[in-house]
Amino acid sequence: MNGKQDKKIGIPVFRAPEGMRAYALSQRAAKQAIGLVPTMGALHEGHLSLIRRSAAENGRTVVSIFVNPIQFDDPRDFARYPQQLESDAAAAGKAGADAVYAPSPAVMYPEGFSTFVDMAGISETLCGSVREAHFRGVCTVVTKLFHAALPDRAYFGQKDAQQLAVVRKMAKELDFPVEVKGCETVREPDGLAMSSRNARLADKERIAARCLYRALCEAETLSRAGERDAARLREAMQAVIGAEPPARIEYIEIVDPVTFESLETAFPGALAALAVYIGDVRLIDNLTL
Ligand code: PAF
Repeated sequence: MNGKQDKKIGIPVFRAPEGMRAYALSQRAAKQAIGLVPTMGALHEGHLSLIRRSAAENGRTVVSIFVNPIQFDDPRDFARYPQQLESDAAAAGKAGADAVYAPSPAVMYPEGFSTFVDMAGISETLCGSVREAHFRGVCTVVTKLFHAALPDRAYFGQKDAQQLAVVRKMAKELDFPVEVKGCETVREPDGLAMSSRNARLADKERIAARCLYRALCEAETLSRAGERDAARLREAMQAVIGAEPPARIEYIEIVDPVTFESLETAFPGALAALAVYIGDVRLIDNLTL
C-alpha cells in the first residue's frame, strides 16, 4: 500500500509526503483541480458526503486518513480511536476519492519534530479552552496535509464549527491558496450528529445522546420566539441535558460565529455550541440560531 493501486482498495494509498506531492503535482500539471477531505478515518456518512461533494467540484479528490496524536489532550482517547485503514480507503474510493494519503505518526512527526502552527483568539474558547493544544495540533497537521496534497479546495464539516473557522482563518492568514469549504452536518434520523465516536456509545448511551440535538433545538425554538438572553438559552439547554443521567456537560455556550466569543445577547446567526460527555464519550454539536 504505497502509492500503488491496491487491488482490494481500488485507488492509490500514499504513505509519505513525497509520493503524495508527486501525485498532486502530476494531477495539477494535467489541469485537474484537487479537493482534499482531511479525516481521522472511521469514515461514516458525514465523511462520505464531504468526499462526494469534493468529487463533484474537483477533477481529483484526495482523502487523508490520519489519527493525529498531537491534537488529543487525553492519551486514552487517542488510544481508543478506531483505526481501520483498508476498509476506510475502500469506502473513500467508492464515494468518489481518487487517492488516499495515510502517513504513519512516525512519518508525520519524526523524532525531534518541534515545529507547530499556533493561533491566538478564536482557538482559545470552547474546545480550545478545555482541550489543551488541540487547535495547535489541528493547525499543524492541516498545514502538513495542505503541503502534501496541494489542494485547491479542502472540505470540513460544520459539526466542528470552531475547527472550520480556525482552519479558514489559518488558510487566509498563512496565504494558502486553498478554498476552505464548510459542509452541513449530517445527522442520524433522530438528530444525533454523525461522528466516529458514536460507535463507542452503548445502547442506552446512544439513546441518551439524542439530548445534544434536542437541547440545540430547544435553544433555536426559544430564539425564534424572540428570546435574546444567552443565559436563559443556556439554562434551557442545560435543563434538557441535565434530564439525561449519563450526560455530563463540558460546555454550553452561545457564541459569535466569527470570533467564537461568548455572547450575553444572542442575535440571529449566533451559534449555540455544546460539548457533552455521554458516559466517557465526548460529543460536540452546534446549531446556528
Ligand atoms: O476533524 C477531524 O477529523 C480532524 O480534526 C482533522 C481535520 C482531520 C485534523 O486531524
